[in-house]
Amino acid sequence: MRSASPTRRALLAGAASLIGAPRALAGAPAFGPVGPPSWVPDSLQAAAARAGLTYGAEVPHYRLALAPYRRAVARECGMLVCGTAMKMVEVLPRPGGEDFGAGDETLRFARANGQRMRGHTLIWHDALPDWVSPLLARSSAAQAEDFMRRWIGAAAGHWRGCIEAWDVVNEVLAIGEPRRPDGLRETPWLRALGPDYIDLAFRILREVDPGAAGTWNEDAVEQDVPWMEARRTLVLRRIEGMLARGVPIRRFGLQSHLTSTIPIDQGRLRRFLAELGQLGIGIEITELDFDDRAFPADIAARDRGVTDMARRFLDVVCAEPAVLNVVTWDIWDPDTWLNDHPNRKRPDGLPQRALPLDAEFRRKSLWHAFRDAFRHAPDHKARRDRLRRA
Ligand code: G3I
Repeated sequence: MRSASPTRRALLAGAASLIGAPRALAGAPAFGPVGPPSWVPDSLQAAAARAGLTYGAEVPHYRLALAPYRRAVARECGMLVCGTAMKMVEVLPRPGGEDFGAGDETLRFARANGQRMRGHTLIWHDALPDWVSPLLARSSAAQAEDFMRRWIGAAAGHWRGCIEAWDVVNEVLAIGEPRRPDGLRETPWLRALGPDYIDLAFRILREVDPGAAGTWNEDAVEQDVPWMEARRTLVLRRIEGMLARGVPIRRFGLQSHLTSTIPIDQGRLRRFLAELGQLGIGIEITELDFDDRAFPADIAARDRGVTDMARRFLDVVCAEPAVLNVVTWDIWDPDTWLNDHPNRKRPDGLPQRALPLDAEFRRKSLWHAFRDAFRHAPDHKARRDRLRRA
């Protein structure tokens, strides 16, 4: 191991100290009681549950301060995931400064509503505190592994027993033409630990919280364009390898930030989901939303376009027995990240209609498309319950 320079030694000591051995949890009751289900009989969750599916949404922690938002999320969702509150940048903003508060508050809200929680996300190249990339760049592999163990031990350890599935790794594939034959994105984690960092992260989660399923969450694998087809092949090959190595990957997450500029080929999507299911792992739709930038400004025309995309996608997704959860990335149009992203916002700058509820929290035609897809879905409850327990 290279000798640690004073700066690095201080940083590593700081890193090591900030996330000491995971505290023995007082147990899930530390996050409040699990209350009765908050969703209503005509909700998206109620429709999804009939087929053994769970519907949920990402929630920004600050949004829970808005009463109509809280009511809408409680009314419609059986599962929540934090948009940022459980990411390293929020939990470990500086060495020695763990902050679980926003995640705790969101978890308490979910538990009080009888809702499940997903964890997002443990190992990602983004949402890293400023001090972490330099730390990893100066670390030996052993030091980087120690840091990864302490971070996952802190986050997954703190919420042990409360998270149904963690996005253990997020967006590990390169976007565009990969420079590496394995198609992996060059990240601080890859540079510090090599490609085995992915397997390692899953093994660490299994040690820290064996009750939480480990999910590989990935973007841009859903639609009909050659570069996404190539990514689907990389996903399947890597998961086959991980399973052969005994890596405890339990699920694959399709982020599903669907774009109106690329078609959805139902046959290709169906085959991809079926091949994932045949590998024996669960599938999650983890960040579903629909950009409407290819559709006209007219709201009725846009809603028709988005609703058609939703139907084409959800009819295939809900028919695959291995699909367990369908989670939208927020539920309320004004919150969508798509309006702020240079590559996803509309050329005319109009606010997009990407989610089930409009600015007045009214159920849109997109909400009805979700409800109908869930209602018409075949009942795979037995298989889905088995996969959740696996
Ligand atoms: O909370 C601070 C606020 O105090 C500050 O004033 C403000 C301006 O700097 O920033 C706020 O934090 C922002 C945070 O969202 C909460 O709004 C961060 O800067 C911003 O980087 C962060 O963006 C999030 C992004 O992931 C990066 O973590 C988005 O909300 C979130 O929707 C987005 O979600 C990602 C998934 O994790 C992975 N898949 C893609 C998806 C969309 O990009």
